[in-house]
Amino acid sequence: MTKQIAARRIQQLPPYLFARIDEIKRSAVEAGVDVIDLGVGDPDLRPPEAVIESLIESVRKDDVHHYSSYSGISELREAFAGWFKRRFQVSLDPDSEILPLLGSKEGIGHIFLAQVNPGDEVLVPDPGYPVYTAGAVMAGAVPLFFALREENNFLPDLEELERLTSPRTKMMWLNYPSNPTTALANVDVFEDIAQFAREKEILLCHDMAYSEIVYDGKKAISFLETSQGKEVGIEFHSLSKSFSMCGWRIGFAVGNKEAISSLAKVKTNLDSGIFIPLQMAAISALIECDADSKRICSAFDSRRTMFVRSLNEAGWNVPLPPSTFYVWAHVPPGYDSMEFSTYLLKEAGIVCTPGVGFGNHGEGFVRMSLTAPDKRLVEAIERLKDVNIDWS
Ligand SMILES: Cc1ncc(COP(=O)(O)O)c(C=O)c1O
Repeated sequence: MTKQIAARRIQQLPPYLFARIDEIKRSAVEAGVDVIDLGVGDPDLRPPEAVIESLIESVRKDDVHHYSSYSGISELREAFAGWFKRRFQVSLDPDSEILPLLGSKEGIGHIFLAQVNPGDEVLVPDPGYPVYTAGAVMAGAVPLFFALREENNFLPDLEELERLTSPRTKMMWLNYPSNPTTALANVDVFEDIAQFAREKEILLCHDMAYSEIVYDGKKAISFLETSQGKEVGIEFHSLSKSFSMCGWRIGFAVGNKEAISSLAKVKTNLDSGIFIPLQMAAISALIECDADSKRICSAFDSRRTMFVRSLNEAGWNVPLPPSTFYVWAHVPPGYDSMEFSTYLLKEAGIVCTPGVGFGNHGEGFVRMSLTAPDKRLVEAIERLKDVNIDWS
């Protein structure tokens, strides 16, 4: 018998939303429902062929099966520096300003251990990716939620940030392109936040997992493009969505040298680097696959146009998302987000994510992920047309 079931920090964690949705989905499937899963953001599109070829070729070699270096092979960091410069016109030192990750979620979770002490405070967007809260709780820190409101284009309100911040506030999170709100930020917003972070001596963490899924000829900007970006900020990037490589688990932390070095120290003690053939494949993605990245984005573009137009034709007034592969939609009158998600699963066999799972300010919305094949999305629309809902 153990003395206790789990550590207090584990007991304090809210159940991981996507794990819970998986459970609900599983019981519907077991009950014989033909479920259309628009819950988790896991792209169904194939990664670039060059990436797959590169993995196959390098995995056959003899000298690639040992531990890699903690900070990845230098060619990988150099390839990311090249991609970043091409994409954002910002130069990064591959040795001190870039750290490969086992997916960006890993770095997002571990940066808390590197940067905050128990009792410190962390500014967290609401609604936002649940790992910001989980990471804070696991490090014994206190999340301070700031609202992303529709009337403010889902951008932070500086006055609210000022009000919330105390001398114990050590870190702040931003995420643009934003999951779940699909909003984009502009350089003025980033400059204001960089100034705020500098004044308050806060480490600004910017999550750019969706950097390449942006529509209508726009491009997402990096926080490191701001004048004080590298001084106050660390940014998290990922190959998961940009190259449809979620399962491959490759991401990068870039920016402030001290923050990168503290994160590297945590990782040196907890993991042993990325499998070398995966690093070789990631190099191919970063050097050869800009066109594939565009192809992936344009596949989501067609889906969002078709899906949102059809929702509107069916009477559900939903705006066209400017970025990401999500649709962030108001629930119809008379439902909260959990009730509406449950209703959609029961009546239409569609899994979507209740907005409240991303924070209190997500209440009143559901998130639908366009990562199902086109024909399933069309089927989802047909089913939605058949349910008995007054959308007005
Ligand atoms: C906002 C956001 N950040 C980070 C991640 C993590 O991505 P990965 O760990 O695959 O790089 C996700 C995954 O869905 C996400 O939605």
